[in-house]
Amino acid sequence: MSRFLSSSIGRKVVMALTGFFLITFLIVHLGINLSLFWGPEAFNEASEFMATNGVIQVMQYVLAAGFIMHIILGVKLELQNRSSRGVKYAVNKPSENSSFSSRNMIVTGIIVLLFLILHLKDFFVELKFFDKGGFSTDYDLVTALFKNPVYTAIYVIAFILLGIHLSHGFQSAFQSTGANYNKYKRCLKNTGIAFSILIAVGFSAIALYFSFIN
Ligand code: HEM
Repeated sequence: MSRFLSSSIGRKVVMALTGFFLITFLIVHLGINLSLFWGPEAFNEASEFMATNGVIQVMQYVLAAGFIMHIILGVKLELQNRSSRGVKYAVNKPSENSSFSSRNMIVTGIIVLLFLILHLKDFFVELKFFDKGGFSTDYDLVTALFKNPVYTAIYVIAFILLGIHLSHGFQSAFQSTGANYNKYKRCLKNTGIAFSILIAVGFSAIALYFSFIN
């Protein structure tokens, strides 16, 4: 196992599997967050279910492990790629040979990680350990934070970068696990782009709605 994980292909496969898992989490998380549009009752009920359901409590540890593994292997792959790129090609036109998102996975990944630290501190930690930060319900805490335009701007920028990260990550995960047959390549690429837009627009819509409309 340790030999598999230290090989480049082994790392890519585990990156892909943890990536699939995180993609599933994002779909569930967005689905639950969209209940904010249905008002306090719907969101507080969904939040209460998440906080008390036994399966979800266990899955939170799996989620944390998935995130940590994905980050560590991502950094290792980047360092490995940098050291093997020691000698520069005579002719190198990155913009013609690769996409912006594929060339910037480590940058978008690190910014999403910084967002995640801020997000966990203000939402997860406040709700779990600090009595909802003085607010009476989960809905009140979440919607109050988006009343700050700077906070909303940071969130929307992070969601756009998350979308850029996913637009390459989605198809790359299929490629690394061998599922990206030439036949499906175009379809997987387009599905990846559609999915990334859905995630970036879906999460941003929540932040912007509670910042400007509600
Ligand atoms: C408008 C956008 C978002 C809102 C309103 C939101 C809201 C929340 C809330 C209320 C919690 C605490 C749940 C609880 O423990 O009861 C939470 C936790 C969490 N969020 Fe978000 N979130 C958003 C976007 C994101 C994004 C884009 C990511 C990933 C990149 C993310 C990752 C997490 C993680 C890992 C947790 C901790 C695990 C969990 O409690 O499910 N969130 N979020």
